[in-house]
Amino acid sequence: MAEKTFKRTTVTTALPYANGPIHIGHMAGVYVPADIYVRYLRLRGRDVMFVGGSDEHGVPVTIRARKEGITVQEVVDRYHNLIKDSFERFGISFDVYSRTTSDTHHRLAADFFRKLYDEGKLTEMESEQFYDEQTQHFLTDRNIRGECPRCHNLDAYGDQCEKCGATLSPEELINPYNAETGNPLVKRKTKHWYLPLDKDQPWLEKWILEDHKEWRPNVYGQCKSWLDGGLRPRAVTRDLDWGIPVPVEGAEGKVLYVWFDAPIGYISNTKELCDARPEKWGKWETWWKDEDTRLIHFIGKDNIVFHCIVFPAMLKAHGGYILPDNVPSNEFLNLEGNKISTSKNYAVWLNEYLDELPGRQDELRYVLTANAPETKDNDFTWADFQARCNNELVAVYGNFVNRALQLTQKYYEGVVPACGELTDFDRETLGEFKDVKEKLENLLENFKFREAQKEAMNLARIGNKYIADSEPWKIVKTDPERVKTIINISLQISANLAIAFLPFLPFSSERLRQMLAMDTLEWDRLGSTDLIAAGTTLPKPSLLFSKIEDETIQFQQQKLADTIKANEEANYKAPALKETITFDDFQKLDIRVGTVLECERVPKMKKLLKFKIADGLNNRTIVSGISQWYEPEQLIGKQVLFVANLAPREFKNGLVSEGMILSAENHDGTISVTTTEHPVKPGSMIS
Ligand code: MF3
Ligand code: ZN
Repeated sequence: MAEKTFKRTTVTTALPYANGPIHIGHMAGVYVPADIYVRYLRLRGRDVMFVGGSDEHGVPVTIRARKEGITVQEVVDRYHNLIKDSFERFGISFDVYSRTTSDTHHRLAADFFRKLYDEGKLTEMESEQFYDEQTQHFLTDRNIRGECPRCHNLDAYGDQCEKCGATLSPEELINPYNAETGNPLVKRKTKHWYLPLDKDQPWLEKWILEDHKEWRPNVYGQCKSWLDGGLRPRAVTRDLDWGIPVPVEGAEGKVLYVWFDAPIGYISNTKELCDARPEKWGKWETWWKDEDTRLIHFIGKDNIVFHCIVFPAMLKAHGGYILPDNVPSNEFLNLEGNKISTSKNYAVWLNEYLDELPGRQDELRYVLTANAPETKDNDFTWADFQARCNNELVAVYGNFVNRALQLTQKYYEGVVPACGELTDFDRETLGEFKDVKEKLENLLENFKFREAQKEAMNLARIGNKYIADSEPWKIVKTDPERVKTIINISLQISANLAIAFLPFLPFSSERLRQMLAMDTLEWDRLGSTDLIAAGTTLPKPSLLFSKIEDETIQFQQQKLADTIKANEEANYKAPALKETITFDDFQKLDIRVGTVLECERVPKMKKLLKFKIADGLNNRTIVSGISQWYEPEQLIGKQVLFVANLAPREFKNGLVSEGMILSAENHDGTISVTTTEHPVKPGSMIS
């Protein structure tokens, strides 16, 4: 198929839920790649609108509000502002960043629904849903909990059991209850409107499976499996009191399903921008209805079905809209081997990163792109972050540029020397990067950001090697003309780096532009060797990148470790009870208090501590596997509880333990020995 040429591009990024701050998983998956793409298109002089905004409806924001004891409006205000501000500081260059609580959006989304309703494109159906009679609320799947029918975990979710991993529907739960109030649930009839996706199956199959084979394999594959499974009607309304009221009579207490209204938010936000600045942006319809407009959705993998199937079906049902031309979706980014989670507070939050590592936007942008989960889930670790910053940004890119600039200062007082005759080595070097523009364009057009950034970094490697191999410092006395050429070429390569990295690392490219006294960075000139004129005076340079210190990394690692620990503590559940015993059974146990007279490590048996215990009789030896938790000295003189009538147990090395010291195992596996509240005579019995 001949490639269609478009006049303009509308780029959207998934609207993040305003139920918490934005984190690096969001950034790596959606916003950094989208920003690279948009910056690149702008550099190419293409018409592009970059649309973002907050998703302020749905259940997550209401849960957050209840948790924090504030109103939902307060929640969305707080996080919308925080997220918007973080994006700005990080250099995500949205043309518009609005919110789904705006008037424009409420009106547009309601009109959209109303048009489908009026034209009979929605199906009305009654179904039985779980209902909390005390709070008089219908519940969404995620808010229903109950006993798992498979593993009998008492707190399985309505859609999934976290214990055994089973995918569930709320109907399957035994004794379902409201996750927030704990109230038991009953079934009650309720009416909803459905998008009859089953009818869309044929055209969706052709449109995706035949006409969009170029979509990323993960996106295409997910669509195919949805389509192969057969599409079913989907409810687009909910019984909730937070959201956009269903604009139909007799629909009191019902709102549009968040996944119905949120993608319309892309359109509403476009409209807001166009209404505010028509002279620059024209009519909003141009960006959504003109066949010459290319629509691209950047999203994470959990959003694929909504952007490739549901939203297109909505747009088609409404009529007049273009459909997405591509939906570059990433997989997930994990963090130090664990899943990132907003509700568990386990993440690197962008606002905290910006506060704690000020001025280091490009470092994070670089690492998130270098490690982007483009084809499979990936892991972010702070150690890798440090290594990439120090070994790549500082040691390769920064080092090269710094050498070129410092030598210019040292030999020529900052005035760019003229390029003389080229040697074979010069030509070879210049030859190595003359196609960098073409390579980058190819990769960026195809959403291969990770490889594209590698290509830019390769340019820095070429420069680094060039200056290292030509060793101007060795010949500056003997061959000054040659050195001028070497420095000139090094500065030209530096200028090329500023351009090549511009979509990826806009902050450092801007710093470099200033250090090279360039007026502008023009993409079209990428690959040229006359970007800086001889005779130009350069300002005093500063380092382009500085090292990330170990303390910085340790601080961040500790923060995550603290979160894990706090979560473990918060989630600790006492183990299930053992079988009931009789009082007589209990009476058989002889538990006593003893005083530790001696305590020492056991040679060759790392886990063991050997105790001499005063027991009020003949004293006894007890061996206990707790050396990981105590230094022997810590226990000497302490009183401990021990089982006095346990049959003696012999260890491999002939050591015999005459009893067992009682200790508590904490939730995290750490051990704490038991003692009495007041000192008592050794040998006292416990009962
Ligand atoms: N809020 C959703 C999420 O975070 C994404 C919404 S994307 C849009 O998963 F299409 F609805 F805008
Ligand atoms: Zn289960």
